[in-house]
Amino acid sequence: MILLPALLLILWGEPGLCLEEDRGFDGHIRRFTVADDTVYVATEKKLYQLSHDLTPVQSLTLRGIFKDGSREAVFYRVSEGAEWNGTFSINILLPFVENHTLISCGVSDYECGYCEILDLKNISNRIYSENVRVGPTKRSNVSVAFLVKLKKSLADTYILSATQKYDGESVKCSNNYQTVNLHNTNNDQMGEIFAVIDERGTPNIVCTGNVEFVDGFQISSTIYLLSNLPSGPKNTVRLSWLEAKEKKVDTFKSLRTVTLSVSDGGSSRLLSSSLIPGGSLWSGVFTVDGGQTNTELLVFDIRPDFTGGTETDFCQLATSKTLKPKAVLFRQKHMSSVLAVRQRSWMVFFIGTGDGQLIKLAVDKNYHTTCPKVLYRADDDRQMFPQILLDQVDRRHVYVAFRDQMKLVPVSKCSTYTTVQQCWSAQDPHCVWCGSKQSCTFEDDCKDSDWVSIPDHFQQKMVSYQLVKDSTGPIQINVHTHLTVSQVPSNFACQFSGPSTEFCGNKGPPPQFPQCTCILINGTIPAQGVSSVLSLDVAGGTMAVPGQMKE
Ligand SMILES: *[C@@H]1O[C@H](CO)[C@@H](O)[C@H](O)[C@H]1NC(C)=O
Ligand SMILES: *[C@@H]1O[C@H](CO)[C@@H](O)[C@H](O)[C@H]1NC(C)=O
Ligand SMILES: *[C@@H]1O[C@H](CO)[C@@H](O)[C@H](O)[C@H]1NC(C)=O
Ligand SMILES: *[C@@H]1O[C@H](CO)[C@@H](O)[C@H](O)[C@H]1NC(C)=O
Ligand SMILES: *[C@@H]1O[C@H](CO)[C@@H](O)[C@H](O)[C@H]1NC(C)=O
Repeated sequence: MILLPALLLILWGEPGLCLEEDRGFDGHIRRFTVADDTVYVATEKKLYQLSHDLTPVQSLTLRGIFKDGSREAVFYRVSEGAEWNGTFSINILLPFVENHTLISCGVSDYECGYCEILDLKNISNRIYSENVRVGPTKRSNVSVAFLVKLKKSLADTYILSATQKYDGESVKCSNNYQTVNLHNTNNDQMGEIFAVIDERGTPNIVCTGNVEFVDGFQISSTIYLLSNLPSGPKNTVRLSWLEAKEKKVDTFKSLRTVTLSVSDGGSSRLLSSSLIPGGSLWSGVFTVDGGQTNTELLVFDIRPDFTGGTETDFCQLATSKTLKPKAVLFRQKHMSSVLAVRQRSWMVFFIGTGDGQLIKLAVDKNYHTTCPKVLYRADDDRQMFPQILLDQVDRRHVYVAFRDQMKLVPVSKCSTYTTVQQCWSAQDPHCVWCGSKQSCTFEDDCKDSDWVSIPDHFQQKMVSYQLVKDSTGPIQINVHTHLTVSQVPSNFACQFSGPSTEFCGNKGPPPQFPQCTCILINGTIPAQGVSSVLSLDVAGGTMAVPGQMKE
């Protein structure tokens, strides 16, 4: 049976504007982050505050002089062109939104490190600063730091820093710090701001080998850490869980780890990671053959398992448990970063590649992937910064960075699809066909909520036919439309036509969205095939969905 739904018509929409903002910075980008309507970018030379559309608000130089103060050296920024002898190189940039502050920590040429707490809305206002080590003692791309809450209250927020220790770190700088530490965020906590101690000493987690941290985050009371252990015979990728307990020491004692089983027997390395919102699924980009070229996007269910004995060494390789992926979603050379979002029941992945492409991949709940689309391609194959972030204001753009540039790339260009058929065939969960506007738009832009779009699982065609023959009853054709509708259609009808006269009897059940039935009078399908037109009163008018079936 060949299914040939030929689709007609439907009016032309206005071609929309496509935003594609560009912003160049002074110096290479080292870190960037987004909080609500503001973007913060740290380069080698400056810290920038920008609005969500990348309009500059202000910038601070990271060059200055460290002068001896009463207790310790203080960092004084110098004005443009003035003499400077110190640079504050930012490794950690954490918006502490609830406290209206931006925590920035890094390395200075002075002491072991330096941190500043700035006003989140106006980075020119420095609230606090200290010569203190938080995170690595040198520029590092294999360390992570993020805020965690051990209890429910704001006062119980800490900075978790996970850092490879380097040979040759001075005792002064490594004193009290281990591989994973919890730093205070305020002076009311035991030992004051940035301290790692608690009532029972300096709790932390050690690692006796090499470790590269790739990502970390907290979901309710579980803290997740993702890392590569490169020191074994082959690289091992690990997922670690910590349970947020009232005390730092108890939190660290809860450590449990599994090895992510990626390729059979081969060496694999985690390059980038993204939690899939709304559940326990997580996605990662891995190299799979020990080299850098062949990469895969995999999904794992990372819900924690706190059974089994406690672990004392983070980098112990003897962990017996392994976790297998739920699905391999995508294989492509040189993938380097991933961001996952949800759109209705679909998972949508934004994937950055080593040669400067941003790819969008929509995946349904059965892990069926639609065709990948290139959303953006850098003109000179520049490597993309291994981080992609979503615009939190409209959730319609993602931020990508290259060397000294940032771009705001639209997640979809719905308006380029001008018919309901094109809009549907784009298989883009961000786009709907809006009836009142007669155009393909974002769902939020369809004010009257009279839209149709792709169903919640992958379908190749908008209309499918099924021939039902059972030994006793009549032969019937079921015609099914594959649509998600904002409202059940007020009217749903089907018209069948064959080569000659009527061939559907009138005994069939009445059409009920999304299906119609035709009971064949003569018990056979006319040799020339059957055509149908399903009409639905949705999306601000009558929509006709034609299809054709041939045997
Ligand atoms: C930088 O210059 C200031 C003022 O001249 C001086 O006090 C400080 O020691 C210098 N710092 C370094 C790291 O050389
Ligand atoms: C930031 O604060 C400073 C001093 O309080 C003020 O002069 C400046 O205008 C503020 N900048 C912005 C963008 O609000
Ligand atoms: C860190 O940077 C080095 C050198 O730039 C690079 O070779 C390495 O792959 C990076 N590691 C990660 C995890 O991105
Ligand atoms: C918010 O930040 C300021 C500045 O670091 C600090 O003094 C204050 O204690 C913080 N509040 C909380 C609840 O963390
Ligand atoms: C049904 O069969 C009759 C008799 O064989 C024929 O005349 C008629 O055209 C057929 N109808 C259809 C719709 O095929």
